[in-house]
Amino acid sequence: MSTGFFPAKKALQVFGSSPEILTAQGIKESALPTFARSSSDNRQLKSWGPREMPDVGQRVGFMKKPSRSVAAAIFVTKGGVLKSSLTLNFARMTALHGIRTCVVGLDMQGDVTTALSTTDPDEEDNSLVDALERMNQVRGLADVFTGAAKVMDVVRTTEIPTLSYIPETPELVALDQSLVNRNRREYWLRDHVIAPLKKEFDFVLMDCSPNWNRLITNALVASDVLISPLECKINNFRNMKTFEALINEFQTDMRVKFTHVYVATRLSAGRKLSREIFDWYQENLDNCLQTPIRESVQGEESMAMKVSIPEYAPTSPAADEMRDVLREMWALTLRAANAKPGARESKNDTTKRRPPGRSSGRSSDLTM
Ligand SMILES: Nc1ncnc2c1ncn2[C@@H]1O[C@H](COP(=O)(O)OP(=O)(O)O)[C@@H](O)[C@H]1O
Ligand SMILES: [Mg+2]
Repeated sequence: MSTGFFPAKKALQVFGSSPEILTAQGIKESALPTFARSSSDNRQLKSWGPREMPDVGQRVGFMKKPSRSVAAAIFVTKGGVLKSSLTLNFARMTALHGIRTCVVGLDMQGDVTTALSTTDPDEEDNSLVDALERMNQVRGLADVFTGAAKVMDVVRTTEIPTLSYIPETPELVALDQSLVNRNRREYWLRDHVIAPLKKEFDFVLMDCSPNWNRLITNALVASDVLISPLECKINNFRNMKTFEALINEFQTDMRVKFTHVYVATRLSAGRKLSREIFDWYQENLDNCLQTPIRESVQGEESMAMKVSIPEYAPTSPAADEMRDVLREMWALTLRAANAKPGARESKNDTTKRRPPGRSSGRSSDLTM
């Protein structure tokens, strides 16, 4: 778990920026928020915390707020290909750019919920009874389905004011079954969850399970963009061809249209086969990002620390690579949202509701 406090220089590095770039681009110190002092120690560190970082990112970062709300799903029929890692990186970084982001967890394994929650149930100094009680109080999509809760009642906040999520609960299994017996069963999520979320957030990101189930078909129907991570490994290479056909067929049958973006993951640059598979993806797939995600220790460690790679190791090659991936992915996401007919909220609508606690303070003496 991160302390979430960054001295100014490091904060800028999270966004791939630097004090020199600020000067070159004519961004004034006074445009940046006032420092918060790190609460984690008593050293008088001038640093920005999770409450200030979205203001910093909005000014120096590389992702712009969308003019209308947009929804994306991260899905492919394979596990371990970095779906949840990518969700965490994407969501934290959009949120750190001041883009109001909500993650919707759709995988019973609950990896993204674990990564976004601040408490670790196993490490709490609580009795079993207390722990179970707390767990039972967590409400999710199944409660929205039964009418026991409204969508915004099940949205949880994080330490970053622009980042929220709907947690995965064990009842997702039952929800998947219930959806089978429902009229317009592919549209429940879009109409009852994603549409209301789009009124409150700029970006809704769904982390999917690798299993093709009713929650997934609901997620696809609700998405402007589908992002599929593809491992640069031979087993995934075979899987990918079947998968592409499945997605195309689904779009035709359901008469829905979303942009399908691929991102190559787990590239082992030292392995010839891995590089060849990456090249093949690049040449043969429309919308395959130019930047791959390599196998990296920072990738693994940042996930364990529940933060994005750019926050965990801002100056590492893995962070540069992740920023490039996200830059490309965000550009395609915005293009897809703008191209979609019958689009949703206007900019005026979304800017009216600012997240609570966003600092608009001036910076004082930016010494880096
Ligand atoms: N760049 C990386 N290189 C190697 N391992 C990574 C990287 N990024 C994340 N991981 C690790 O890979 C594991 C599987 O990733 P995950 O995102 O959970 O896959 P999926 O959601 O597709 O099942 C995670 O435990 C994570 O720590
Ligand atoms: Mg996952």
